[in-house]
Amino acid sequence: MQRWVTTLTDMTETHVDVQASYPPPPEFSAQANATEALYDEAAEDRLGFWAAQAERLAWDTPFTEVLDWSEAPVAKWFVGGKLNVAYNCVDRHVEAGNGDRVAIHWEGEPVGDARDITYAQLKDEVCQAANTLTELGLTKGDRVAIYMPMVPEAIIAMLACARLGAMHSVVFAGFSASALKARIEDAEAKLVITTDGQFRRGKAAPLKAGVDEAIEALGDSSPVEHVLVVQRTGIEVPWTEGRDTWWHETVPNASTEHTPEAFDSEHPLFLLYTSGTTGKPKGIMHTSGGYLTQASYTHHYVFDIKPESDVYWCTADIGWVTGHTYIVYGPLSNGVTQVVYEGTPASPDEHRHFQVIEKYGVTVYYTAPTVVRTFMKWGRELAFEHDLSSLRLLGSVGEPINPEAWRWYRLVFGGDKTPVVDTWWQTETGGIMISPLPGVTHCKPGSAMRALPGISAKIVDDDGNELAPGTDHGEQASGYLVLDQPWPAMLRGIWGDPERFKETYWSRFAQQGWYFAGDGARYGKDGEIWVLGRIDDVMNVSGHRISTAEVESALVGHSGVAEAAVVGATDEHTGQGICAFVILKSHAKETSREQMVDELRAEVAREISPIAKPREIHVVPELPKTRSGKIMRRLLRDVAEGRELGDTSTLVDPSVFEAIRASK
Ligand code: PRX
Repeated sequence: MQRWVTTLTDMTETHVDVQASYPPPPEFSAQANATEALYDEAAEDRLGFWAAQAERLAWDTPFTEVLDWSEAPVAKWFVGGKLNVAYNCVDRHVEAGNGDRVAIHWEGEPVGDARDITYAQLKDEVCQAANTLTELGLTKGDRVAIYMPMVPEAIIAMLACARLGAMHSVVFAGFSASALKARIEDAEAKLVITTDGQFRRGKAAPLKAGVDEAIEALGDSSPVEHVLVVQRTGIEVPWTEGRDTWWHETVPNASTEHTPEAFDSEHPLFLLYTSGTTGKPKGIMHTSGGYLTQASYTHHYVFDIKPESDVYWCTADIGWVTGHTYIVYGPLSNGVTQVVYEGTPASPDEHRHFQVIEKYGVTVYYTAPTVVRTFMKWGRELAFEHDLSSLRLLGSVGEPINPEAWRWYRLVFGGDKTPVVDTWWQTETGGIMISPLPGVTHCKPGSAMRALPGISAKIVDDDGNELAPGTDHGEQASGYLVLDQPWPAMLRGIWGDPERFKETYWSRFAQQGWYFAGDGARYGKDGEIWVLGRIDDVMNVSGHRISTAEVESALVGHSGVAEAAVVGATDEHTGQGICAFVILKSHAKETSREQMVDELRAEVAREISPIAKPREIHVVPELPKTRSGKIMRRLLRDVAEGRELGDTSTLVDPSVFEAIRASK
């Protein structure tokens, strides 16, 4: 505790100099995996650089070509190579003599409910699960929906799919039955793996029941042949004989022997659904060799991983891409020891994360800005009751981290000495793209700094001209963040919708052949990148990606709603908050506003997830529209954020705002 005393009194928290730069501590640089030379190597021969990174993996058949971009925008990486992803994440560490190393320190939500799993045990369980899935009729290319909380079996299930060459589609367990149904249907999943229930803040909530509801809603067209159920909470579950199977009655009885088959580098690995600008979620498709190479490479260098000594903890959920790449594939391919925690930061109280860090001696901690801001709200005193001196590196992901939160994170978690890496990437990019290298980069709080070695990113204007670096005076204009070179972990498409893939990512700068990420950004005075957030109709609430169209469609699903418009407004704690404007049908006007708002929030939770519940719902008589009938969200955002209205000249009826304002 002593170590903070001086720094604390020196801190002026209200003033943060955003241009202040934090060099890496010399002792960190001295032992760091990455040096400045990595940038030079990559710049000299980009493809040769990636070929070298691919050698981090064990290939059954070597690749003959690094990149085939002839069918752009669908890339082929490490052409001709064959490998098994699960073998790379598990077996090879056992074969290298590290079977006794703990792969996962699993910490359940109920205090005291913990389990350590070594790499040897993980290998046995993955093989048993793979054998069980084979028994259930699964073969390569099939799709499996995984709808589970953060239990070890969720990771084992993902690896078992990878081992068999089946694609997993993990659906966040906080999503509703209706969201699960849409994902099962789109992917035509043959198997669903779930748990009876999940612990949430001390209570067991049903989960399997949601699977039944989803399958029932699919009716005769349901593709699901089996449901494999892990017993987590012991609560009662609905059961369909012949279709449903208990994990504990099958998996532990299966053989621990399983020979992994090597699959083509471009064999599909997983689908992960994410929100786009329409109501229908997109099944982002990732493949094997390129994805695993980038997962392993970025995890090694960005988190400076030393598998023999580090205890790494990424607090994400496997329902999101961060959980895929930086809980499952990155860390396990690197053979590190990691903590996996089932619950929320406040279970049973706000000390939980600090206790977990102390208990396992966590050295690298990777979380989201919204979690940091929550800790800020709770106050630094909490942290001071714990010994956090094991931490040597901190990471952030999911949304722009405000400079205050960055400084607070470094000070309170990191004793004002650990590097903080702000990592920018997306479900679509598969792995980290823009981030400091912790032993090299002089970090500016709130900036993701520059593209990693081997990655190329630019900020451009409407016509594709690159913006100039910022100056000392005044703000630099913002532009579009683009990726102008293919990268190994890039998405290979949207499941079943090649047109949407091209349209969404490759049409904005089609002439140049660049990927447009959907984010706005600007350069700082040293040419570093400041990501500003989405500039399309995608919101970012506590690091969760939610589209305005999805929430609108849930709202108009209520019988009382005639029309709805949703915008994301800046929120101090969650990054953005969801603000909805609804027009009611005449029959609904008799219901009191409070009741209506309650019903609508419940409707959104039912249709999508409680995380998508609007922060505010305003009942309005009209929505601002252009002559072509398009809702002017920009103006609604002005209203939601209490600003003067921007240009209203294209509106049919500018006076609608009097009424909208009156409703707030
Ligand atoms: O807007 C960017 C924001 O999150 C979006 C991607 O969301 P998702 O696919 O759910 O993946 C989140 C985890 C990788 C991006 O388009 N975003 C992510 N990381 C950052 C960020 N914005 C600013 N800074 C970041 N470090």
